[in-house]
Amino acid sequence: MAKKKVVYECQNCGFQSPRWTGKCPGCNSWDSLLELNQEQIDYLKKSSKVKVSNSKAISITKIKAEDIKRFSSNSKELDLVLGGGIVNGSLTLIGGSPGIGKSTLLLKIAGNLAKDNYDVLYVSGEESASQIKLRGDRLGSNIDTLYLLAEINMGSILDEIESKEYSFIVIDSIQTIYNSEVPSAPGSVTQVRAVTFELMRIAKSKNIPIFIIGHITKDGSIAGPRVLEHMVDTVLYFEGDTNSDLRLLRSFKNRFGSTNEVGIFEMDSSGLRDAKSMSERFFNKESLMPGSALTIIMEGSRPIVIEVQALVTSAYANPKRSSTGFDSNRLNMLLALLEKKLDLPLGTYDIFVNVVGGIKIQETSADLAIIAAILSSFRERELSSKTLFIGEVSLTGEVRDVPNMLQRLKEAKTQGFANAVVPSNPIEKSELKTYIANSVEKIIEWM
Ligand SMILES: Nc1ncnc2c1ncn2[C@@H]1O[C@H](COP(=O)(O)OP(=O)(O)OP(=O)(O)O)[C@@H](O)[C@H]1O
Ligand SMILES: [Mg+2]
Repeated sequence: MAKKKVVYECQNCGFQSPRWTGKCPGCNSWDSLLELNQEQIDYLKKSSKVKVSNSKAISITKIKAEDIKRFSSNSKELDLVLGGGIVNGSLTLIGGSPGIGKSTLLLKIAGNLAKDNYDVLYVSGEESASQIKLRGDRLGSNIDTLYLLAEINMGSILDEIESKEYSFIVIDSIQTIYNSEVPSAPGSVTQVRAVTFELMRIAKSKNIPIFIIGHITKDGSIAGPRVLEHMVDTVLYFEGDTNSDLRLLRSFKNRFGSTNEVGIFEMDSSGLRDAKSMSERFFNKESLMPGSALTIIMEGSRPIVIEVQALVTSAYANPKRSSTGFDSNRLNMLLALLEKKLDLPLGTYDIFVNVVGGIKIQETSADLAIIAAILSSFRERELSSKTLFIGEVSLTGEVRDVPNMLQRLKEAKTQGFANAVVPSNPIEKSELKTYIANSVEKIIEWM
């Protein structure tokens, strides 16, 4: 009797194996391999049969380059993240944790485009049309040329797309849509791959930009298939604290632009708006309390002034270290450095660090400000609210330059700051008064 063929597939990255393993060799995730049934194996075999086509390779010099055509989404922030606007025929994935505002943003954009007389299709597999209409009322998106389709069957969605010349399509969300020819549950690797492939084909052949919403898992990756990120042109992630009204839209992959830009939005009762004044959001202009220090970080190409806070108090038993918005390993490194270089007895203190406004610092330029905040709390001495601390601190206690220093100082000047503590003078003179602190020891002299 012929032995039954067994295939296991990773639900995270799509890796296939004849044996079950606890850890997927493809993406290192645990317990993600599932046994496929016979119908699924037959489908895989069928879909992997390559169709013969007559295409031939052409010399690269003979290929006519087509211009990338973009149009505005009527949201400055979204245009910025996309690299200058929505690209015709592109497939974009927006991921983010539950309730962060994915549907809100895309319904708002869909409404914006409908106002410009584009025919827009919003497909929802998660909510009923009346639920979406309610949200649309709030967002001011209920426009004649915005069409809703509450549907999870790919075949019906395709019929609808074929029935009209749509200029923009939203799929909310990819994990709920299924192709009835694929013998797997919605959200599984095989389904998501098949549905995304179909959407990619439509986007390219009909030259329609399509935005797909994807759920993310606890560890922050798009739920289920990693393959999804490879297939689409652009991957955007929504970040933000649900307690704060601020949302950041970061680009992780963009086939049509840089991934450096960040879109900043505010959530309010009328939906997500482009955030306006960023300057007063993250710090108190009047005065600072002991334990607070100001720095300026780069979010994409934008310098933003933020306040970092530290609380240093005597520890009763084991000293605690906790950090919100700043990498805790980096905090431990800075504390070890302060103990060694400045002889501070920090081992007997609890130390808490917080970044105001729910921002997560992703660069090293705030090291100096974190140290300043810790020293300020330790000595109960407040710092000036007109002074910024900018610099990366190395393991040797040296303070180093960070990229875009001049741009940061210029922004600080326009926001009315008087002084900056930096590792070296930028080449061009900025009008800001700069104090040089090129080692950790120098900071204490300065304070
Ligand atoms: N009336 C309102 N006023 C202000 N904010 C609201 C209001 N209604 C909803 N919200 C905000 O909108 C958020 C829901 O946004 P949305 O449904 O777009 O999220 P989502 O990312 O699509 O979530 P899911 O993954 O569950 O689909 C809520 O968490 C809430 O913060
Ligand atoms: Mg939603």
